[in-house]
Amino acid sequence: MRIFSGIQPTGRKHLGNYIGAIRQYVEGQERGDPALFCIVDLHAITVAYDPEDLRQRLYDTTAILLAAGLDPARCVLFRQSDVHEHTELSWLLGGVCAHGDLNRMHQFKEKSAAQRELVSAGLFFYPVLQAADVLAYRAEEVPVGEDQRQHIELMREIARRFNERFGETLIVPEHRIPEVGAKVMDLQEPDRKMSTTVGSDSGRVYVLDEEKAIRKKFGSAVTDSGRDIKRGEGKQGIANLIGILSAARGVSEESVEAEFEGAGYGDFKKAVADGVVEYLRPVREAYPAIRSDEQGLEAVLAAGAERARELASVTLADVRSAMGVGPA
Ligand code: AMP
Ligand code: TRP
Repeated sequence: MRIFSGIQPTGRKHLGNYIGAIRQYVEGQERGDPALFCIVDLHAITVAYDPEDLRQRLYDTTAILLAAGLDPARCVLFRQSDVHEHTELSWLLGGVCAHGDLNRMHQFKEKSAAQRELVSAGLFFYPVLQAADVLAYRAEEVPVGEDQRQHIELMREIARRFNERFGETLIVPEHRIPEVGAKVMDLQEPDRKMSTTVGSDSGRVYVLDEEKAIRKKFGSAVTDSGRDIKRGEGKQGIANLIGILSAARGVSEESVEAEFEGAGYGDFKKAVADGVVEYLRPVREAYPAIRSDEQGLEAVLAAGAERARELASVTLADVRSAMGVGPA
């Protein structure tokens, strides 16, 4: 099974990224043949950013993935901009992607509304580059959080349209969205997803947060005026905490509800904090040594890019040939 996913090198990675995506990557490298994970720096330049900061955040994200358990011997970990096939393919796929489909993308609407200076054409074209990321490897499975569902639907449509017009060339990929934790909500505003760019720091738990900070954030998490530790109407805050604890412990949400039946919200929040502190501890502890070795990180990325290029170049040759681009 060929598995592919991408993650942005922007901001600091949070518990939503970890539960929704990163833990699935780690599990995916067991099944992947191969599993490819790409740090998508070219997606990050579609909104305002600082060039030096981008490079630093790219190392941060690479180090988090390694600390979380990605093993370069068992997966292909690389930087998007190192493999030129992605950008070339995105342009070629632009020929079979409907403008109207891009116009419907929720993420474009949200992100463009947040831009102060410029809504870039790159931001509009972003989903086509994302399609190229996956289709270049003929990946079958794409582990992501719920917020990427629409982008995966679009890349499926692009692959289908390509195959219809130019003959069977690309694989139509499937998303893999976890049952629990696909949409971790903000701790302060539980009707909104936890996000790097929206909301305050107290609403999001970072993967690298110290124990004290994690406890404080869960301690002040917004709940409701009731007393039941159960999912249901008007209980987004509690439901979110149930989901988080269930992911952290690797048990079902039902068993969390059963265990905390009759308990108070204070005790429950403390248990969630304990669970998350332990869950993230191995990553937090492994991170500093990995992050401080930038040469080591570059070596991992370079080796990954080389393997990625080998696979992507085969697809690109097929796509160019099917489209009549370049010599026969
Ligand atoms: P990004 O950092 O935007 O590149 O996102 C990386 C991955 O994390 C993607 O697969 C997203 O779907 C996932 N993700 C982002 N935010 C959340 C969230 N609040 N809950 C679950 N998954 C998320
Ligand atoms: N757009 C995705 C996000 O914001 C990141 C991404 C880029 C991606 N390329 C991808 C995810 C390919 C899955 C497959 O999270």
